Amino acid sequence: MHFQWYPGHMTKARRMMQDNIKLIDIVVELVDARIPYSSKNPDIDDLARGKYRLIILNKADMADAEVTSAWEQYYKEKGFLVAKVNSQKGAGIREVKKLIEEACKEKKEKDRKRGILNRPLRAMVAGIPNVGKSTFINSFAGKACAKTGNKPGVTKGKQWIKINKNVELLDTPGILWPKFEDQAVGLRLAWIGSIKEEILNAPEMAVELTEFLKTCYPGVLTERYAISEEGEGLQILQDIAEARGCLIKGGQVDTEKAALLLLDDFRSLRLGRISLEQPQ
Ligand code: G4P
Repeated sequence: MHFQWYPGHMTKARRMMQDNIKLIDIVVELVDARIPYSSKNPDIDDLARGKYRLIILNKADMADAEVTSAWEQYYKEKGFLVAKVNSQKGAGIREVKKLIEEACKEKKEKDRKRGILNRPLRAMVAGIPNVGKSTFINSFAGKACAKTGNKPGVTKGKQWIKINKNVELLDTPGILWPKFEDQAVGLRLAWIGSIKEEILNAPEMAVELTEFLKTCYPGVLTERYAISEEGEGLQILQDIAEARGCLIKGGQVDTEKAALLLLDDFRSLRLGRISLEQPQ
C-alpha cells in the first residue's frame, strides 16, 4: 500500500496517535532495517514522552546484518529497547516478547508501590506506511490471540489483543508520516518503495542508486550485470540497459526500463542484503 501524504492526512494521523497513546505504556516503533533513520519519525519522541520505547528493526532479512547490529547498538545507547526482526518469518519475535516482559516487570513494580495490582502492560505498534506493522502484529500476536473486546469507560471503542496475562496490544497500529523535508530521506524511502513512484523519476532514482552502490557496495553491480563500475551513474545505467537488452526502437538504450529493472532487483534482494544508511 503506497501513501501520498497531504497536510490533512498528517493532522488526522497525529490526532489518532495522540488519542491512542494516552492508553499506552509501551510504544513499539517499527523502522525499516535498511533505513533506520529515514523511516523513523522524530515527532513520535514528543508523542511518546514518558512511555517505554521499543524499536523494531524490521525487515532485518533485507538489510546488511553487520550494519543492522551497528544500528541496534546505536539505538540502545540512546536508551531504547531494540530488536532485530523479520516479521514475515517470525524471526526475533521471541526477543521482542522478552523485552516487553522486562518492561512489564518494571512497570508492575512501579504500580505495586502505588497500590495498583494486576494491570496489564498496554502496547501499541506504530510506524510509517509499509514498514510491516500488520505483518508484525500478526506474527507477534499469533493465531491464538483473542480480542478482549471493548472495555466500557476505560477503552471505549478500542480493540485489545491479549498477548498473555501481562500484556495487551492495541489491534490498530499508529500510522506515522515520513519526514518529507529532507530530500536524501525522500530518495531512500523511494528506493525501498515507500513513496509513490509516479511522483519520482525512475531513471534519476536509479542513477543515484548506482552511485550509492558502487561506493558502498563495490562489486555488486558488476557481479549482477557483468558491467564496469568505473563510469558515472548514468553511464552505468546505460550499461545495465545494454547488458539486459533494454532497448527502444532504433536500438537506443531504454534507461527507463533499465531503471525499473535495477530498482526491482534491489527491492527483491537480487543484489543481496543492502543497508542504505549507517549510524552517524
Ligand atoms: P504496514 O502495515 O506497515 O503498512 O505494512 P505491511 O504489514 O502491510 O507490510 C508491507 C510489506 O512488507 C508486505 O509486503 C509485507 O509482507 C512486507 N514485510 C513486512 N515485514 C517484513 C519483514 O520482516 N521482511 C520482509 N522481507 N518483508 C516484510 P507486500 O509485498 O506489500 O505484500 P506481500 O507480498 O507480503 O503480500
